[in-house]
Amino acid sequence: MHYYENVLELIGKTPMVKLNKLVDDSMATVLVKLEQLNPGGSVKDRMAVHMVNKAIEDGKIKPGGTFVESTSGNTGLGVAMASAVLGYRTVFTIPDKMSKEKIDMLKAFGSEVLVTRTDLPHDHPESYVEIAKRIASELPNACYTDQYHNMNNPEAHYLTTGPEIWNDTDGKIDCLVGGIGTGGTISGTAKFLKEKAAEAGREVRVVCPDPVGSIYCDVFNKRDVREPGIYRVEGIGHDFMVGTLDFSVIDEVVEVSDRDSFLLARKLVREEGIFAGGSAGTALWGALKVAKELGPGKLVVCIIPDSGDRYVSKYFDDEWMRDMGYLGIEERIGSVSNLIDYKGRNIEFAEPDETITQVAGRMSEMGISQMPIKPDDSHGLMMVHEIDLLRALATGECNGDDKVIKAATPLNGTVSIDDSLTKVQRIFDNGEVAVLIEKGTPTGIIAKIDVVEFLAAKS
Ligand SMILES: Cc1ncc(COP(=O)(O)O)c(C=O)c1O
Repeated sequence: MHYYENVLELIGKTPMVKLNKLVDDSMATVLVKLEQLNPGGSVKDRMAVHMVNKAIEDGKIKPGGTFVESTSGNTGLGVAMASAVLGYRTVFTIPDKMSKEKIDMLKAFGSEVLVTRTDLPHDHPESYVEIAKRIASELPNACYTDQYHNMNNPEAHYLTTGPEIWNDTDGKIDCLVGGIGTGGTISGTAKFLKEKAAEAGREVRVVCPDPVGSIYCDVFNKRDVREPGIYRVEGIGHDFMVGTLDFSVIDEVVEVSDRDSFLLARKLVREEGIFAGGSAGTALWGALKVAKELGPGKLVVCIIPDSGDRYVSKYFDDEWMRDMGYLGIEERIGSVSNLIDYKGRNIEFAEPDETITQVAGRMSEMGISQMPIKPDDSHGLMMVHEIDLLRALATGECNGDDKVIKAATPLNGTVSIDDSLTKVQRIFDNGEVAVLIEKGTPTGIIAKIDVVEFLAAKS
């Protein structure tokens, strides 16, 4: 028989998965650690159960008492799950910007949930933190788990997340990427990985993508801290500094917009089949940036904090995305990849040593007005248009027996598979056709009529 004593035993040992479509050969390998596979659906299960166990062990609560926490939802879900198993009650405060799904899920665990105003400073008596503290102090036999200052939070990741990543990468990780909410995940995990790497004479770089509007990026980079702004990504970023965040194990904090985060989270599920929340989009944006900088042969691990199922009414809802202004014309008309799925890749090359007469004959036969020159080491990416042939012959620069390469010009108007069709449109505006380049080689020609046919079929 194989079974677990209770659901809490399922926390941790989450798998890592390689990204195959969002990462190309010019980039480092990116492995995503799927924390949404924890039983409570997020990375916060690890610290929640550790905080609860430690509070019980340290006598901070007696059997049947109440755990109180201020949460963006996920910590609450972890504390609620642990409390359900261990026989405690729970009360949570949660700011009103958090998704309805998370609030409803907390209630499903039998928790009492107080929804508070998001726009209040953290020390305002009606903020989610202050209300939670007040409830815990007034309620008999209650314990405020205080994720922002409880050092069992980073410790949970030092004891579990860090070792899992080190073991599963055979110590070969070059860079860890993850967002900062309380900082517990990144601080504990990074501390462990940096210590292990130092023992092995290596280095692990730690990069934290932070939402525009959060103060962490400014504080880390020692810039003037701007007034905290409102941002819509949930679970990461903050408007005040917290005790559980250890900047000494972080090498870089980069800003990411809500729009980039949400669009990338949508792409992650559509292209890699990995259904994750908005903060996963933020983290992944940073991971892809690092993977481009590091290049092939290096290994980046990105922590995916939670599942997309708690945001279906938000980032995964087209209407919500449009209302918020995140889905513009670019997303509506689609990408080069969508067009190629529709029309396929077709390309006719001119051989560099073909003559102008031969190429002109082939163009006329096929009814096309340009051909890229087959790439080889002797020249860069070149194209020959019928207008180039006409000019070369009319000026007497070339005759029909000359090699076509003599009349060719450097190839302009290149696009990659991920580019939007708005880029293709700009290329048309410059009088060019668009040429799809993959792995450094032209693999498709996109003419105006292709886009017209594609959009007509789509409408
Ligand atoms: C969705 C989401 N992403 C990321 C995090 C960041 O984790 P940490 O608080 O450990 O920094 C959280 C934390 O609440 C979260 O809920």
